[in-house]
Amino acid sequence: MTHAQWLPEHVARLRPYEPGKPIDEVQRELGLPRVVKLASNESPYGPSPRALAAARQALQEAHWYPDAGGYYLRTDLARYHGVSPQEIALGAGSTELVQLLVTALLTPDDHAIVVDVTFPMYRLALEVGRVPYTVVPLRDGQYDVESILRAVRPNTKMVFLANPNNPTGTYIPRPDLEFLLESLPARVVVVHDEAYVHYVDCPDYPDGLTYYRRGAPVVVLRTFSKVYGLAGLRVGYAIGHPDIVRGIDTVRSPFNVSHVAQAAARAALADGAYVRTVVEATRRQRAWLTQQLTELGWPPYPSQANFVCFQVEGDARAWSNRLLREGVIVRPLGFFGLPTGLRVTVGRPEDNILFIEKLRKLWQASA
Ligand SMILES: Cc1ncc(COP(=O)(O)O)c(C=O)c1O
Repeated sequence: MTHAQWLPEHVARLRPYEPGKPIDEVQRELGLPRVVKLASNESPYGPSPRALAAARQALQEAHWYPDAGGYYLRTDLARYHGVSPQEIALGAGSTELVQLLVTALLTPDDHAIVVDVTFPMYRLALEVGRVPYTVVPLRDGQYDVESILRAVRPNTKMVFLANPNNPTGTYIPRPDLEFLLESLPARVVVVHDEAYVHYVDCPDYPDGLTYYRRGAPVVVLRTFSKVYGLAGLRVGYAIGHPDIVRGIDTVRSPFNVSHVAQAAARAALADGAYVRTVVEATRRQRAWLTQQLTELGWPPYPSQANFVCFQVEGDARAWSNRLLREGVIVRPLGFFGLPTGLRVTVGRPEDNILFIEKLRKLWQASA
């Protein structure tokens, strides 16, 4: 029996997300004393102790369905961002919000724009929704606003921008985003995905909310999976026009964000001091990794995120397999459209040292 018997063509031609092996399994299989995972841009510092306490407390109420309206979390987020709760939609991670935006806003008669090397979930959502899209190449790892504008068609309705971008870590500067927003037809919704916003330290980064407030058709995506250290609980949110939020709320499953996730997210949001500690440590380590890789002759793209991305000679998968056998899990970027690229999450200092030591060893062995 072939899959084609059951799956429509637009699903049959897609590949499911390739999950990495669980870290314990890698350790057991390879008989390694220590394995570090620098593959999925999680925070190595974990959640704030206050978020953990809130999650534990919420677990005792796990027999109740979660609040389907996310009342308290949306109220907190609205206050935090200075918007109304009607402008906030919750999702099981921002990944789900990408799917929900496509489902709620687009049809196969519309058209969308994505870049070639970016978060793969945008394309997946468009494929599943049978929405035609144009793929615009990055230029030297950077978004090229002029090319995006050239790709606009009469039926274009959405542009996806990860800013900073995953997997390059590069960002769209304020003048470029402003030019894009001024030039796009008013019907085009710009999804400004700010998953890595906390790690940004450049002065000309454009905060998507500023443009939303000015009336631009911008939807901002945020997640609790990165700096807040809650990737395993799955919670993210969108900020946008109440009509768009209503659309998302109409097509989502009602209990998409668990009770524990909502409680932990509220406590994490309130612990600003913890966020600052994580951000400072990550930025320091990002600078260190960038310097080490540059000295090794593999300068990464300048990163504003919690990972660095660099290109190797030949197939990046071979390098990632070699690193894996040394106990360091990194992400080869074939699935992201960059077959010679490796992405490495900024870990704790000891993890980053181990990664650089192993990479140097492998590099010397291959020279
Ligand atoms: C650009 C970007 N957006 C969204 C996400 C999704 O995060 P989550 O679904 O965990 O909120 C990621 C995760 O890697 C990402 O890189």
